[in-house]
Amino acid sequence: MPEIVLKYQQYKSAKKLSKSQKAVLKEAKKALKKSYSPYSGFQVAAAIELSNGVILSGANYENAAYPLCLCAERVALATAASLHPNVAIIRMAVTVKSKEHPQTKPASPCGACRQVIMETEVKQKQPMEIILKGQRGDIIVIEEGKTLLPLGFNADVLNGK
Ligand code: THU
Repeated sequence: MPEIVLKYQQYKSAKKLSKSQKAVLKEAKKALKKSYSPYSGFQVAAAIELSNGVILSGANYENAAYPLCLCAERVALATAASLHPNVAIIRMAVTVKSKEHPQTKPASPCGACRQVIMETEVKQKQPMEIILKGQRGDIIVIEEGKTLLPLGFNADVLNGK
């Protein structure tokens, strides 16, 4: 039977991370301030390192019409694509914070964000590393975003491939 295995690194602290990984994670943490989450009280922020050295970030942006809430990951990915079109994304760090339920584990991107991460990798023809962290606790590093969406829908089927 075919089998899909998800490989990732898990670290107890940021000490083992590279300088770039630390810098992106730090920026994500800073970006939690930008979260507009009055309905859930759940702050999410994502920071992105581009191949031109730029680091940018985004946070979740909620709306009283709940389904319109924008996830931090997609805000950051769309910001990167708009401000720096055709510049590859090397890595994205995502962090979460909640007053009511302090986050002791990393939260991973929702299904919709996984789709956008995967399609961004296809578009840029190179993987993006994903770094996940809660307010405390372990850090998870995933080498290629697309591994978070096994057997995902992709544009090949639209093109009859
Ligand atoms: N959220 C994100 O920003 N990223 C995810 O991958 C999952 C959920 C946000 C959306 C909403 O503002 C809040 O978290 C609660 O779902």
